[in-house]
Amino acid sequence: MGRITNKNEYTEHYNLSMKDGDAYWGKIAEELHWFKKWDSVQSGNFDDLNLKWFEGSKTNMSYNCLDRHLEKNGDKVAVIYEDNDPSVKARTFTYKELHAEVCKMANVMKERGVKKGDRVCFYMSMVPELLIGVLACTRIGAIHSVVFGGFSANALSGRIQDSECSMLITNDGGYRGNKIIPLKDIADEALESCPSIENVLVVKRTDSDIKWKEGRDHWLGELMEKASTECEAEQLDAEDPLFILYTSGSTGKPKGLLHTTAGYMTYAYHTFRNVFQVEEDDIYWCTADIGWITGHTYITYGPLLNGSTTVMFEGVPTWPDAGRFWDICDKLKVTHFYTAPTAIRALEACDIEYVNKHSLSTLKVLGSVGEPINEEAWSWYNKNIGKEKCPIVDTWWQTETGGIMISPLAGITDLIPAHATLPLPGVEPLLVDSEGTPVEGNPAEGNLCMNRPWPGIARTIWGDHERYKQTYFSTYPGKYFTGDGARRDEKGNYRITGRVDDVMNISGHRIGTAEVEDALNEHPNVVESAVVGFPHNIKGQGIYAYVICQNAPENEEVLQKELNEIINKMIGPIAKPDKVQVTSGLPKTRSGKIMRRILRKIAANETDSLGDTSTLLNPEIVDTLMAGKK
Ligand code: PRX
Repeated sequence: MGRITNKNEYTEHYNLSMKDGDAYWGKIAEELHWFKKWDSVQSGNFDDLNLKWFEGSKTNMSYNCLDRHLEKNGDKVAVIYEDNDPSVKARTFTYKELHAEVCKMANVMKERGVKKGDRVCFYMSMVPELLIGVLACTRIGAIHSVVFGGFSANALSGRIQDSECSMLITNDGGYRGNKIIPLKDIADEALESCPSIENVLVVKRTDSDIKWKEGRDHWLGELMEKASTECEAEQLDAEDPLFILYTSGSTGKPKGLLHTTAGYMTYAYHTFRNVFQVEEDDIYWCTADIGWITGHTYITYGPLLNGSTTVMFEGVPTWPDAGRFWDICDKLKVTHFYTAPTAIRALEACDIEYVNKHSLSTLKVLGSVGEPINEEAWSWYNKNIGKEKCPIVDTWWQTETGGIMISPLAGITDLIPAHATLPLPGVEPLLVDSEGTPVEGNPAEGNLCMNRPWPGIARTIWGDHERYKQTYFSTYPGKYFTGDGARRDEKGNYRITGRVDDVMNISGHRIGTAEVEDALNEHPNVVESAVVGFPHNIKGQGIYAYVICQNAPENEEVLQKELNEIINKMIGPIAKPDKVQVTSGLPKTRSGKIMRRILRKIAANETDSLGDTSTLLNPEIVDTLMAGKK
């Protein structure tokens, strides 16, 4: 079927994918390399939740990302690595070079005892060894679990324990603008409670002074020097696990979503080329961190499966100044630029000269991901960065979906600001009301569900299939519930309105209210807390925490500082509350449930529309809360 190149082909692809999904995905998958072809394209459904794609086949992700391109494109640049320090020349890896590095690292892992099915944790900044390392895992059938380098020791140890990783790969320190994140120190602290870790491989990056545990810790560079550049790719089963990635939900501890080999691979391959329409000599740059799903699918796997050139950037958008992104676009001749609305809004707030002193003339396509993009940010991006000649693909998807689900195809789909527009082939969205009844016809509004499996869907939550069923398939039986609300216009275009559950989206990062509350409650003076998101100009949403204290705090600023320290320790700085309000009570129903709707309205200053508060156990608290609003 190849790549979709015009509207008619989109319709043809979409219709076939709905009419005969097996025929459709079978044809797409044939473009990849299989050591052995599948017996059946898809089996299982949203009732049995035993989802399988390309069963009976044998394949390998790293073979498809690397070896498959060597003969024709071995000397093509696969990765351009842009250092945190702008004066350092960008490093490049051709497909041949990347292949050699991946083989070396796979051999190092094997020598240190890593076998197929073992879990390897990565706690790193954006250094090349992170991208090389995840590919090395896929080469030998080890399962990677990347933990974002901004998480705390506590968050890291929880994730390592949950999936019982036997190896941790980290760096001595990570550069982020003018800061050094002491990754190895944080990892050392985490490992005090992680008995499963046998080996720690350390990348030397900042030359920081670090502690060393003989026998456990090894310099990766030294091991790589001795390793062979040949390592045969394991022939893996279609449903062999590929990676685990932790994400927050509305309740409990973070969930380790498990993605498997053949379906995820096919989906990453097909969505990347159709959404971005990258051509042979293009330079594609996704600014995400590999610690998030966007960095997995659209820095690493999607581009490499397609033989494209992908940029990996170590630093931050505002260092040494707010023109860094635009500087890199010009310097590396970037054609495709994919970032998050929060970065767009932050850069929009800076002097326009940071943009205007760059030409940005190589850009062809812009992308947005991670949170709803407001119309104003969309227009600024379109006018100032895309110069009104680059389509913007507003890509809606989730850690669970593996790849983009609803999005324009660049240059093909008609754009509407702030709309994710149309579903990709194989994706059957459905809006339902609170009872689960489908809202038919257009326009419509409701909770966004998926009506059928697609190849990239996460297959389970690591170690807890029951929780997987409960979280995604029990609200509306027989359907996958995304947790998002959406509207559909007359022509069937979707606009995502945001989460309808207790998950916040802070600067495009998913954070559960319960996780933050659990951390706040650790403070000796906090009896109870309730956390909600509120509209924030730059971050999209900020965190508003209501806390009930045992003793009235003498100094609320001190309390807020202490709470921030606890959050830093338990989760990481991304989950720090923007506002803390000390209160004597929280609005509760007669059954003792906190009425978050009211807390959200107060935090958002929408107190005219509080709705019925008479059913509250303590209606008088509403006025108290409004009076003490931060
Ligand atoms: O609420 C949606 C929002 O981000 C959530 C998924 O977060 P995560 O699993 O961390 O993955 C982020 C990167 C794919 C969704 O439930 N979201 C993501 N993309 C968009 C979005 N909301 C609106 N528009 C988008 N384009």
